[in-house]
Amino acid sequence: MYNKIVMEKFLKPENAGSLRGANAVGKAGNANCGDVIKLYFLVDEDGIIEEAKFKTFGCPAAIACSDIACDLVRGLQIDEALNVSSREIFDELEGLEDSRVYCSVLAEDAIKLTVENYYKKKSK
Ligand code: FES
Repeated sequence: MYNKIVMEKFLKPENAGSLRGANAVGKAGNANCGDVIKLYFLVDEDGIIEEAKFKTFGCPAAIACSDIACDLVRGLQIDEALNVSSREIFDELEGLEDSRVYCSVLAEDAIKLTVENYYKKKSK
C-alpha cells in the first residue's frame, strides 16, 4: 500500500514536533478525511527559513508528506517556499497511491498558509 520511503518517513519522521520561537504557523485541513497538517517555520531576519517542523493528525502519507515538506522548505527564502509543489513532494516520496495523492496537496496548502501567516504577522 505505501512504498518504503513513505513508511520510513511515517515511522521515523525527523521533523515532527512543534518549534520553539516559530514566527510562522499554518494549518491545512481536509474536511473529507479529517486530516490536519500544521507547519511551523522559524524565519530569520533575511527571510530564510532556518527551521521547519510539523504536527500532523492524519494518515501515514500525510505524515510523510509533512516531513518532506519541512525538508524541502528548510534553507529557502520564505517566498521561494511557495514554489514547493505537491508534485515535488510526491516525487521525493517516489510516489503515492492515487487515493493518497491528496495528502501531498494538503502539505502544499500548509506551506502556502504558513508563508501567508508569516507575511500577515510581519505586516502588523
Ligand atoms: Fe487525508 Fe491523507 S488521507 S490527507
